[in-house]
Amino acid sequence: MSQTTTTTESDAPASGNQEPRMIRIFDTTLRDGEQSPGASMNLAEKLEVAQLLESMGVDIIEAGFPIASPGDFEAVKAIASTIHQSTVCGLARCSDKDIDAAWEAVKGARNSRIHVFLATSAIHREFKLRMSTDEIVERAVAGVKRAKAYCDDVEFSPEDACRTEHDFLCRVVEAAIDAGATTINVPDTVGYATPSEIFDRFTMLRNRVPNMDKAVLSTHCHDDLGMAVANSMAAVAAGAGQIECTINGIGERAGNAALEEVVMAMKTRKDFFNCTTRIDSTRLVPASRLVSKTTGIQVQRNKAIVGRNAFAHESGIHQDGMLKERSTYEIMSPEEVGFSKTDLVLGKHSGRAALADRAKTLGYTLTAEQLNIVFEQFKVLADKKKEMYDGDIVALVQQQISGS
Ligand code: KIV
Ligand code: ZN
Repeated sequence: MSQTTTTTESDAPASGNQEPRMIRIFDTTLRDGEQSPGASMNLAEKLEVAQLLESMGVDIIEAGFPIASPGDFEAVKAIASTIHQSTVCGLARCSDKDIDAAWEAVKGARNSRIHVFLATSAIHREFKLRMSTDEIVERAVAGVKRAKAYCDDVEFSPEDACRTEHDFLCRVVEAAIDAGATTINVPDTVGYATPSEIFDRFTMLRNRVPNMDKAVLSTHCHDDLGMAVANSMAAVAAGAGQIECTINGIGERAGNAALEEVVMAMKTRKDFFNCTTRIDSTRLVPASRLVSKTTGIQVQRNKAIVGRNAFAHESGIHQDGMLKERSTYEIMSPEEVGFSKTDLVLGKHSGRAALADRAKTLGYTLTAEQLNIVFEQFKVLADKKKEMYDGDIVALVQQQISGS
């Protein structure tokens, strides 16, 4: 679908005529997503989700936290031996036991990654870890080195990075890269940051950490203030090369950045971000439905991209525009994300054009006079109902046809 508006040069972060940057999609539905209260999945369900993630083109699947439980360990191991295209990642704290378990679980994969994390913010250092800054750096370096002895692909996350002092964050990140980390993930663990703060923090890291070009910068945003997707996109605009996200945005507390939203933001606003992904966007709705079914967490009707109302139009003005030219009210097509079609919902806000169109789809071509009468009756009935169904339209039209 062609869009008529383009971003002006002054507000676009995309750089001129450069080739689009490929952004890695790191899906953590099976790890952070499963940490949503009530979202536990059994091994068969996890395998089904992992296979769908692989088929849609996810670059890295974080399959679980192997030390967390024997079930988690077995699930990560089973996913590692089943998945061949995507990298399979296991999470570990910076402790020998965790890292050894993570490696045991992911080593069977064609491409494996160990993801080690350690909190760096003053709050976590003082109250949770009771460790000094020197001890944190030492533990982070030891963790990365142990993981690196097993696996080339090592990710390091300074937990609560977005509340960590700039100087200390730079120091830990530099040390982790020197120790062998190939991806540096900068989590907004408690969903506290704003988009401009994220942009500044990522820019600061790129400018100040001398070996930053030796690792991929990654973003991992939580949604406590409803800004996880906006924050992830701000990180991308500031040079992040990987987004960590989950299907339907499930995750700890208010959840993580939603995979379907970041992918479609980059696809629909390529003019702005100048980025691309390997995701087959037509798999987004099937993935959303599978994760919703297996976790029991329902998707709200107005959820962006995959919600039932995401491509539904009820107002007469919008429906009239849509019937004339879809791009009047649609910035992407429902088919692109895996819905079969746009939904012109008939209700009290709908207009004559949409009613005539639905009647035609149902096999009735009405004269102008018939349409006027049916439309009046339709408005009276629609005032009493939340939604008008095809059966309601057929009844009104039949009554009119047989009476005239
Ligand atoms: O939110 C967070 O900080 C995490 C880390 C383990 C990456 O999930
Ligand atoms: Zn997280």
